[in-house]
Amino acid sequence: MITPHRTEFLTDSYGRTIKSLRMSITDRCNLNCIYCHNEGSIGTTGEMSVETISNIMHVAAGFGVNRLKISGGEPLLRKDLEDILVSLPPFKDVSMTTNGVLLRERAQSLKDAGLNRVNISLDSLNEGNYRHITKCKGGIFGKVIDGIRAAVDVGLTPVKLNMVLLKDVNEFEVEDMLSFAREFHGDVILQLIQLMDFGDVACYHVDVDEVERELELKAGCVQVRELHHRKKYLIDGAEIEFVRPVDNTEFCANCNRLRVTADGKLRPCLLVNDNLVDVSHASVEEMSDLFRLAVSRRVPFYRKLKEI
Ligand code: 5AD
Repeated sequence: MITPHRTEFLTDSYGRTIKSLRMSITDRCNLNCIYCHNEGSIGTTGEMSVETISNIMHVAAGFGVNRLKISGGEPLLRKDLEDILVSLPPFKDVSMTTNGVLLRERAQSLKDAGLNRVNISLDSLNEGNYRHITKCKGGIFGKVIDGIRAAVDVGLTPVKLNMVLLKDVNEFEVEDMLSFAREFHGDVILQLIQLMDFGDVACYHVDVDEVERELELKAGCVQVRELHHRKKYLIDGAEIEFVRPVDNTEFCANCNRLRVTADGKLRPCLLVNDNLVDVSHASVEEMSDLFRLAVSRRVPFYRKLKEI
């Protein structure tokens, strides 16, 4: 067993160095979205303790990982999320993906505990449509909007609004969503997401090439982000990012993240289920080797032909 040296990075056999972790802290959710992939629906057993999470993150930090995204399920269903945040090593960026329903009450305490920013899932600005997509009861939509405002107010910014494009459901709402984002003068970015095919969602597929062409025509400026090769557009002062994970070799070639499941398994890729590495019962010393093992199992899901 070799303990990680400060300068040892986790680089896979495709030359991709892990700089970021995406950790699910619960599979529970208070919404039931029609398209949700439930983080790959692998069926986890239980949730990690604050101590286990903290150990995993300290080991990761020792390998030069400097970014963390906390996800779920819905992370705000964990009452000890602030304790988790406080227990983390100093990362450059700690963000969270949330549906925002419970955010208003906790925005300030999350910020105080060290959270830097949030991504909030908002697939529609029309309450009826929102209820249809999330299969929730009345009153929830307003809470999410309040959650977005609270996140901006306490400085969990930039807030990114995650909008999964769904055919005949919300594809015509991009302009409305942009106007809403604009109200926040740069603190809110719209993130359009291509639907990934988990379960019975084929009927919702949108021609994302067409949407992207329209954005390109309207945009005053287009930038390409290194991570996942995402495109960024500026339209009348509102910023939009386009996330296209499907059939995208560039997306995989630039992927620098490793996932951690809610029950403490390192997961090399969202789209692969048979190569998980359990660290939930490992000592800190053992975890280092398990990280190396997980990273050695990383293969770009969408590969360039020459690499196959
Ligand atoms: N396709 C694309 N993104 C998805 N998400 C969940 N399910 C899917 C899917 N099938 C992402 C969205 C959502 C977040 C919680 O997870 O970004 O906002």
